[in-house]
Amino acid sequence: MKKIALYLFLIMQAISVTACQNEELDLGSGTVTPDENTNVLIVYYSWSGTTKGVAERMQRMLHCDIYEIVPAVPYPSDSNDTHYRAVEERESGNLPELRGSLPDLSKYDLILLGGPVWSDYMATPLMSYIAQSDFTGKRVAGFRTDAGTPGRYDSEFSRMAGESHAEEVGEMLGLSHVRSMNAERLDGRITEWFRSVGAGNVEAAVERMSEK
Ligand SMILES: Cc1cc2nc3c(=O)[nH]c(=O)nc-3n(C[C@H](O)[C@H](O)[C@H](O)COP(=O)(O)O)c2cc1C
Repeated sequence: MKKIALYLFLIMQAISVTACQNEELDLGSGTVTPDENTNVLIVYYSWSGTTKGVAERMQRMLHCDIYEIVPAVPYPSDSNDTHYRAVEERESGNLPELRGSLPDLSKYDLILLGGPVWSDYMATPLMSYIAQSDFTGKRVAGFRTDAGTPGRYDSEFSRMAGESHAEEVGEMLGLSHVRSMNAERLDGRITEWFRSVGAGNVEAAVERMSEK
């Protein structure tokens, strides 16, 4: 059964890599000094840069703070090895240690949490971050990137955010094959989600997109 799951995963990875090679979308990078939406924090983990690109794109739209989750011990560059390490961490409950101190959440009302799907679940560094956080009094909403089979990511996200005392868990933004997605469509999905989860000044974000 595990072999079949791994085989399916490898096929998905091949599709995902092909999508990267045919890249239509420049996810860009760069930072913006937070001057708006100071009550919103984006927290993300990214293994190969896709979720990072989406998170930074969101930050440029919202002008809010952003925090990258970095594992204390980096994951292997090989996706199979990463898969095996993550399964072991998840099944044993020994979630990975994270580098540095976690962000102080006191000034935020809404935490947007992003990560990739790993073998049907959240990537274990994101699980570790959520497990160590206390979201008492905060609204939380997730965004994920994947290669088409999100598995149990969304239900596990809601469960873990609830266990970490989130006041409210908003709708999940699920983005499959982001790198082959048309930029306009991606921005449309993101702003629709911003509205659904009440992410600050969405109209200013839409305005900034049209200026690009
Ligand atoms: C170890 C591992 C396991 C993965 N498992 C899945 C999966 O079960 N379902 C899926 O749709 N994509 C899976 N993927 C693909 C990633 O979720 C997808 O490429 C994602 O956008 C990568 O985000 P990142 O670049 O931010 O790490 C997996 C990738 C890796 C490295």
